[in-house]
Amino acid sequence: MKVLVLNGSPHKAGMTDRALSIVEAAMAKAGVESERMLIGNKPVRGCIACEKCEDTGLCAFTDDLANEIIERLLASDGLVVGTPVYFAGANGALLALLDRVFYAASVHGKRFAGKPACAVTTLWRAGSTSALDELNRYFTFSGMPVASSTYWNMMLNSGDDSFGEDVLHQLGENMARLVKATRP
Ligand SMILES: Cc1cc2nc3c(=O)[nH]c(=O)nc-3n(C[C@H](O)[C@H](O)[C@H](O)COP(=O)(O)O)c2cc1C
Repeated sequence: MKVLVLNGSPHKAGMTDRALSIVEAAMAKAGVESERMLIGNKPVRGCIACEKCEDTGLCAFTDDLANEIIERLLASDGLVVGTPVYFAGANGALLALLDRVFYAASVHGKRFAGKPACAVTTLWRAGSTSALDELNRYFTFSGMPVASSTYWNMMLNSGDDSFGEDVLHQLGENMARLVKATRP
């Protein structure tokens, strides 16, 4: 079983990478593999509501990662999305991608339905719950069961956040349990 892990930060080895690694390690210990994608720092399109995806199931724009995310997620058993908190929300470039990914996948009968998902945030100080809410909406719109932990899925970038690490470890264990219980 394999989960797609999408790092919505421009930084390959930043805080979001660290937080996602904790979730991945807990999933791996429970026997669920992961594969990573990084949205990075290249330009990302917003949705232009052209509705071309209604015909193809893919986004009409082919010059960024949207279609690769759709195809890799369709081949996966679940999804973990991490984001740095920007202005008390998720990274705008990540949201621009996810608008197109989830719209194109949904106009063809909710093709991500049944795949467990969860979101992870990293931040300096405040805004994680609104960022989590933004990301969880893509999952619940799409019929994806959402894995939870025992607090908000967040890790602080200031100093040692061992509490946050425990929360993310628990999230990885719960995500693996959900994947194993629900995937064929
Ligand atoms: C444009 C921008 C806006 C930010 N807004 C917030 C914010 O609202 N709240 C917060 O706690 N941290 C904020 N931060 C800090 C980042 O969320 C934090 O450094 C994050 O852990 C970076 O993750 P990364 O290393 O994976 O990119 C902001 C950073 C940037 C660049």
